Amino acid sequence: MKISLKTIIAGGALAAIAALAIAAPAADNWENHCAKCHGADGKGQTKAGKKLNVKDYTDAKVQSEFSDADIVKATTSGISDKAGKEKMKAYKDELSEAEIKEMAGYIRKFKK
Ligand code: HEC
Repeated sequence: MKISLKTIIAGGALAAIAALAIAAPAADNWENHCAKCHGADGKGQTKAGKKLNVKDYTDAKVQSEFSDADIVKATTSGISDKAGKEKMKAYKDELSEAEIKEMAGYIRKFKK
């Protein structure tokens, strides 16, 4: 096959799209995986968030109650209540370790 400049450009664009699909920016991951409950603004004032009683991540006191490691652990393995009922699912199959680490930074930015 004769490789034309067009082919190279098209290939490059495809590779860029593939890379995006593998590692989405934290904002996109938040929107796609977390905002339904925690809210786009991190306040948790969504229908699901209110029902599940999620915390307000703009509240400095709430932010002081967990460490970055806690965020990574909660997002990786999910959260269950004392009876073992799942409150939030584990995201280890949907997000990479690096993406989960980024979520910690993203959550911190909600703090007012
Ligand atoms: C189905 C709703 C739902 C979705 C979607 C969801 N969460 Fe949660 N999340 C919860 C609930 C419920 C809790 C526990 C709240 C509590 O009991 O304090 C929680 C707790 C957490 C905690 C522990 C700190 C805390 O608030 O107690 C972190 C960190 C967290 N979620 C991050 C995320 C991230 C990051 C995503 C997306 C990858 C996400 N959550 C998606 C419902 C959800």
